[in-house]
Amino acid sequence: MTDVSAGRRLTVAIAGATGVVGTAVREILAEREYPVGELRLLASERSAGRRLPFGGHDVAVDVLAADSFADVDLAFFAAGGAASKRFAPAAAAAGALVIDKSSAFRSDPEVPLVVPEVNPDALAAHKGIVATPNCSTIQMVVALKPLYDAAGIERVVVSTYQAVSGSGKKGPDELRRQAPRVLAGKPAEAAAYPYQIAFNLLPHIDDFLPGGFTKEEQKMVDETQKIFADPDLKVAPTCVRVPVFNSHSEAVNVQTRRRLSLAEARALLAAAPGVELIDDPTKLSYPMPIDASGLDPVFVGRLREDPTIENGLHFWCVSDNLRKGAALNAVQIAEELLRRELV
Ligand SMILES: NC(=O)c1ccc[n+]([C@@H]2O[C@H](COP(=O)([O-])OP(=O)(O)OC[C@H]3O[C@@H](n4cnc5c(N)ncnc54)[C@H](OP(=O)(O)O)[C@@H]3O)[C@@H](O)[C@H]2O)c1
Repeated sequence: MTDVSAGRRLTVAIAGATGVVGTAVREILAEREYPVGELRLLASERSAGRRLPFGGHDVAVDVLAADSFADVDLAFFAAGGAASKRFAPAAAAAGALVIDKSSAFRSDPEVPLVVPEVNPDALAAHKGIVATPNCSTIQMVVALKPLYDAAGIERVVVSTYQAVSGSGKKGPDELRRQAPRVLAGKPAEAAAYPYQIAFNLLPHIDDFLPGGFTKEEQKMVDETQKIFADPDLKVAPTCVRVPVFNSHSEAVNVQTRRRLSLAEARALLAAAPGVELIDDPTKLSYPMPIDASGLDPVFVGRLREDPTIENGLHFWCVSDNLRKGAALNAVQIAEELLRRELV
């Protein structure tokens, strides 16, 4: 990051430091040279005493507790919704600014839900907790933002292809365990998911709601409307878990309010912050999850007009769910808070 800290170094805590998102937060803070003075790593009793590297030293993991946050400036929460509900208010009351990765506070009208490329101004209203959206929402809204600003958006139909790392460390562990068993003709033995995930697709992420949508799908609707501050924006999602280790993909169909030509849409996406266009069918060039993993952008390709509706566009987008979908978005929020002198 550009140095906006004026020499100040912050005491930073990561709750859920041993998980896949907490690990990525620790790595990205170091990579982007966030001005961390002291780092506190917090997890459950299972991980107490483990030592994890940061800034040339090993830092011991402590047990997350209500009194973990004395003198903490900034607390990243990546320990699940129950831990966030239980400990984030205590962290905020102790004076830490909480950046929460769980869904615990996303629909709370008092809590800004922020993607820095889309709605950074929402940060100004924080009251000690800032929420970061679901991974599938983040990459979609980054790609939609330039189209929304230029032409308005009436409706979005999205199908997701979500990697197993989106389920936390148990997801990749299960795929790694099942794949050789299935290839050897043995039973897959599902534990993290209700059915075998290796060589299969599950049209089911998070719990089912009474109307037939899943909570993951409902999050894409509610969060997109909150981020764009547009309750009329229609979003119709289907969320699918796929046997890909990392990086989520999405097929997105957009109906804009004003017509955008293909050339206009391409130019808008090419210039959009956080987006990288990879779109040349003549060279078989399009985004794929194996190429996106470990990288920051939301990759967009397969851009084309939808001739079946008025003002329709299709695109495909791929992004690393642990980075832009989770840890990177949280660290970018921390950078923006510092830039705006809000922490
Ligand atoms: N994975 C993604 O792509 C993604 C994307 C967006 C948002 N998120 C959200 O980020 C959060 C973390 O997810 P993850 O994927 O990183 O999960 P994970 O790999 O399973 O890690 C969970 C972390 O939380 C800790 N933890 C669990 N229960 C705890 C408790 N009661 N007290 C203290 N620590 C506890 C675990 O510590 P131990 O090691 O001690 O068990 C571990 O550090 C979740 O809210 C998730 O919904 C994840």
